Amino acid sequence: MNQVELIKSSIKSIPDYPKAGIIFRDITSLLEVPNAFQATVDMIVAEFKHKGITKIVGTESRGFIFGAPVALALGVPFVLVRKPKKLPREVISQSYTLEYGEDVLEIHTDSIQANDNVLIIDDLLATGGTVEATTKLIRRLGGKVENAAFVIYLPDLGGKERLEQAGINSFTLVSFE
Ligand code: PRP
Ligand code: ADE
Repeated sequence: MNQVELIKSSIKSIPDYPKAGIIFRDITSLLEVPNAFQATVDMIVAEFKHKGITKIVGTESRGFIFGAPVALALGVPFVLVRKPKKLPREVISQSYTLEYGEDVLEIHTDSIQANDNVLIIDDLLATGGTVEATTKLIRRLGGKVENAAFVIYLPDLGGKERLEQAGINSFTLVSFE
């Protein structure tokens, strides 16, 4: 089995969760297979290690799981984008829509500098709303962001096209139609 097959086979699919009609792609089962988790981090690191990335931004909450080890492997700071009222210092906020709801994301204003070349990491790309909102937060603080990396892509929801319109190239490891 190659790395992509190992990663894909370790992700469980749960029908009708969290509501009817959604097939939930569950990364907790991947995290319980150490060589699959390692392969996931290794593939993202290999793609971005020579691209001049100065910061990793991970989105709450599953983006933290993959963003933190990638940041350590690249030797760059790891910045958290969180749901409201979780970050203790001064923040800016951005609202967005999800596959199954609506929410707000926040970032510390002092976490991004004007010369930063940011890579956003999340577990899954569905509509692209989460990462589009994250991109807006980073750009409002003067950071450059042209790339986002995901473990899972759901092509039916058009997230890659939406992010491309926002000037973001999406690197994804496995797709589920
Ligand atoms: C999920 C997932 C991505 C996002 C993808 O997060 O982890 O962040 O949705 O959807 P999109 O491309 O349509 O924006 P969720 O908001 O459910 O939060 P969680 O990671 O804390 O469970
Ligand atoms: N986040 C948004 N859509 C999702 C899905 N279908 N499975 C897992 N996480 C998701």
